[in-house]
Amino acid sequence: MSELSGKVSLVTGGSRGIGRAIALALAEAGSDVAVNYASAVAAADDVVKQITAMGRKAKAYKANVGNAEDVHGMIEQVTKDLGPVTVLVNNAGITRDRSFAKLTLEQWTEVIDVNLNGQAFVTHAVLPGMLNAGWGRIIFISSVVGQMGNFGQSNYAAAKAGLIALTKSLAREVARKNITVNAVAPGYIETDMTAAVPAEAIEAVKKSTPVGRLGKAEEVAHAVLFLASPKAAYVTGETVSVNGGMYMM
Ligand SMILES: NC(=O)c1ccc[n+]([C@@H]2O[C@H](COP(=O)([O-])OP(=O)(O)OC[C@H]3O[C@@H](n4cnc5c(N)ncnc54)[C@H](OP(=O)(O)O)[C@@H]3O)[C@@H](O)[C@H]2O)c1
Repeated sequence: MSELSGKVSLVTGGSRGIGRAIALALAEAGSDVAVNYASAVAAADDVVKQITAMGRKAKAYKANVGNAEDVHGMIEQVTKDLGPVTVLVNNAGITRDRSFAKLTLEQWTEVIDVNLNGQAFVTHAVLPGMLNAGWGRIIFISSVVGQMGNFGQSNYAAAKAGLIALTKSLAREVARKNITVNAVAPGYIETDMTAAVPAEAIEAVKKSTPVGRLGKAEEVAHAVLFLASPKAAYVTGETVSVNGGMYMM
């Protein structure tokens, strides 16, 4: 029941959607949780409230993961408040969709900064504490789009594929230190992010998904929880797809 008791987890983008479900699932499994957010303070506070009601410690941390200075400040504060992070879920992500020919440099850079550089910055800042603790779990939230590509999402696909390569490389570097590094690649999940997708496109997604529906944030959280658990000690460098069969590797 409490396989993560005594652990400190950090979930980036833990205020809404998939990150919120992950933060709550980790807390249910016994972990204290640092909830990172970019601007939705009320949503982050609500997650913290739910976690503290479970009897765990939790605190919200405003930081743009794409800004290395913000990230270092956040990790220093989390360590002071809750202790060193030993479960890191790199979930914060954004979209700026446009066909590649029309994509601006700013739209390219913004997505790479948050979805790829941001996840790397946070991991780099957390890693020394994990090495010191002699145990750790690092989980990157990638995407089916990073595996198969998608029209209008070249920036997002490049960032999400980059996370899979980062997962494999870092997994090799830290495996002997009791630190596993894995990715989860969700398909289309019901959150604010997909609420912005036109209805016809969602219908097309449902048609091309064998399960025939969008996924739920909690269904992604279950996979993350497994990878975060001590039971997953022999799983590393892996990408777990949670996509209703939309793309089979
Ligand atoms: N939904 C899907 O179908 C789907 C599929 C595959 C992969 N994913 C990935 O799953 C992750 C979560 O997606 P979601 O659908 O839950 O998205 P969402 O509902 O839009 O939530 C995004 C979360 O990321 C945070 N965030 C955004 N930019 C940030 C930044 N610069 N610094 C720190 N936090 C930031 C947001 O904080 P605020 O609340 O403060 O804005 C929010 O908590 C993303 O990496 C996404 O790419 C989603």
